[in-house]
Amino acid sequence: MAAMDANSSYDRMKELKEFDESKMGVKGLSDSGLTSIPRFFVHPPETLSDFKKSSSTCTNIPIIDLSGIINSKDNDHRLKIVEQVKEAAKTWGFFQVINHGVPISVLDETIHAIRAFHDQPHEVKAKFYKRENELGGVMYMSNNDLYRAKSAAWHDSLQAWMGPEPLKVADLPEICRNEVVAWDKSATEVAETVMELLCEGLGLEAGKFKELTFLDTRVLVGHCYPYCPQPDLTVGITSHTDPGVITVLLQNHVPGLQVKHGDEWVNVKPVPGGLIINAGDFLQIISNGEYKSVQHRVLANSSKEARISIVIFFNLAKWKGDGYHGPLPELLSPEKPAIYRNFTRQEFFENFYSKGIDTKSLIEKIKIKN
Ligand code: OGA
Ligand code: NI
Repeated sequence: MAAMDANSSYDRMKELKEFDESKMGVKGLSDSGLTSIPRFFVHPPETLSDFKKSSSTCTNIPIIDLSGIINSKDNDHRLKIVEQVKEAAKTWGFFQVINHGVPISVLDETIHAIRAFHDQPHEVKAKFYKRENELGGVMYMSNNDLYRAKSAAWHDSLQAWMGPEPLKVADLPEICRNEVVAWDKSATEVAETVMELLCEGLGLEAGKFKELTFLDTRVLVGHCYPYCPQPDLTVGITSHTDPGVITVLLQNHVPGLQVKHGDEWVNVKPVPGGLIINAGDFLQIISNGEYKSVQHRVLANSSKEARISIVIFFNLAKWKGDGYHGPLPELLSPEKPAIYRNFTRQEFFENFYSKGIDTKSLIEKIKIKN
């Protein structure tokens, strides 16, 4: 039964459905020139007041220069970079890499292609609009958790599962097809380099994560955060942690991403040529709490120009098996016992798909309480 608001005849579910079925996304709303946003986008005062807290302007997430390790065998230098990555993953859970080996032209082409997808006329984009919890294929939708979240957020997304089953390339929208395929390849190379450094930081063989197939189960999401006429009433993306191993994020020059650091929200300033890397819940779990999966969010975009970001989530693989996942046994000892219990694939999905992205993460559920 539809939930009716106590003090009016507002039928939230009906409005959500109408918006979803219109397939216009927030880009369509924004382009229509509306001046006030539909009510289901308005967040409760406690969320909004937290968003208004002025964020730190003097700090930034660590920037790590990979130039010395791509195509180089200088071991001392590599150890320094391993230390930087380890420190950043432990204390921030987020960092930017520069000189990662991917030409700026490839970054620019990727951003341009994803923007071009979102800029297409309604009729063209609507063909891709769907909402399925399937682990595969290509879909375009506004708010992946539209019906699960308490309030909607001001973004639309094009999502494509790039692995482990090879994507049917022809399923990708033509306007960004080649660029998505090329970006997936480049970003996966960067992810491999970063995973090697993260492994070394834990004292593991550099290739351990690759061997565990952490590069294989990946989903690419091209977000669009169009201009929002009432940016003080809603959010771009609700505060959350990413569920996977690591995320590689490419953004255009329109700001909005913020990362929680201690009690503060820190703006992630777009760095030309930079790629943002963050640890997800699985990495925190398998590293037995060494690396941190940190809360982040995006402000609703007050700029006339759309904010574009392209994320690739690298997820814990072998989803097909029903085995247990948990802290890597290599990292455990009597002095360092497991702080998380093992969990199953089913538990993960139940947690992920039962509520909005702002849910308490799996990490809290599986923490071993003493
Ligand atoms: C996400 C995310 C941030 C961004 O998709 O999980 O945090 O800048 N995106 O789009
Ligand atoms: Ni995220």
